[in-house]
Amino acid sequence: MNALQFIETSIEEGIGYIFLNRPKQLNALNRKMIREIVSAMEAYDLDLRVKVIVLAGNGKAFSAGADIEEMVNDNPVSLELMNQFADWDRISLVKKPVIGAVKGFVFGGGFELALSCDFLIAASDTQFSFPEVTLGVMPGAGGTQRLTKLVGKTKALEWILTAERIKAKTALQYGFINKIVAPELLMEEAVDLAGKIAKQPPLAVRLIKESVNKAVDHSLYEGMQFERKNFYLLFASKDQKEGMSAFVEKRKPNFTGG
Ligand code: CAA
Repeated sequence: MNALQFIETSIEEGIGYIFLNRPKQLNALNRKMIREIVSAMEAYDLDLRVKVIVLAGNGKAFSAGADIEEMVNDNPVSLELMNQFADWDRISLVKKPVIGAVKGFVFGGGFELALSCDFLIAASDTQFSFPEVTLGVMPGAGGTQRLTKLVGKTKALEWILTAERIKAKTALQYGFINKIVAPELLMEEAVDLAGKIAKQPPLAVRLIKESVNKAVDHSLYEGMQFERKNFYLLFASKDQKEGMSAFVEKRKPNFTGG
């Protein structure tokens, strides 16, 4: 495996950590960095030691967006042939929960990366923004779609067209982050949430994430049929037998992941 250049990874107590590690450039996301992030997520997805993934940034910002210097000379043909966003698409296929721990600038592609997480814990100093319009472009890694699905057309359009900096309090009010914490408690809170999820039976966690995600893109009827099949499927797991027997026997369950 190639040495990691732009991220740092580690595994501890069921949590797979990914730290964006280009602090001098405010973790501006170049293409290699995105490939490293996605490969690390995919490796964690297959690693039985990892129950939950935590994504965070080294330095003062989560990420100031896609690397502008890298893009400045791009053209439509080079972009089409490079198909860089195919790497971003792979993030949606990660089965384990991903918690984003964000702070400082969460701009452009950094905002899009944050919106690809399943949960967001934000330090009180966090500012979210889509500044692409000020560069003569627009979000390209899902920003116009994910933000609109989360907050509705009215606010999404206003924020993307004005490049307004959205404060953590507003983000919480509009429901696209889970919690605001003091900057010094950011990792502690992310680890606390990760720990709560890591204790749950992994197959149930996996199928719950998959089912909730169906609600975003499918009709209620289709989503409910999908949910039902996943519900039935869990009755093939050892953890269902253990969870329900433990309840009946009035003891704590011991989940094994099977
Ligand atoms: N790309 C490349 N380099 C970046 C960068 C980016 N997105 N954001 C910051 N940097 C670099 C700066 O060039 C600077 O490098 P040098 O020290 O070598 O000059 C370093 O990081 C520190 O940045 P600043 O000195 O600008 O720090 P600041 O605190 O004064 O300002 C900021 C911070 C307001 C975030 C400012 O850096 C900024 O506006 N950055 C660009 C934000 C942006 O437009 N992001 C959207 C990118 S496009 C995109 O993401 C497309 C997409 O949808 C995929």
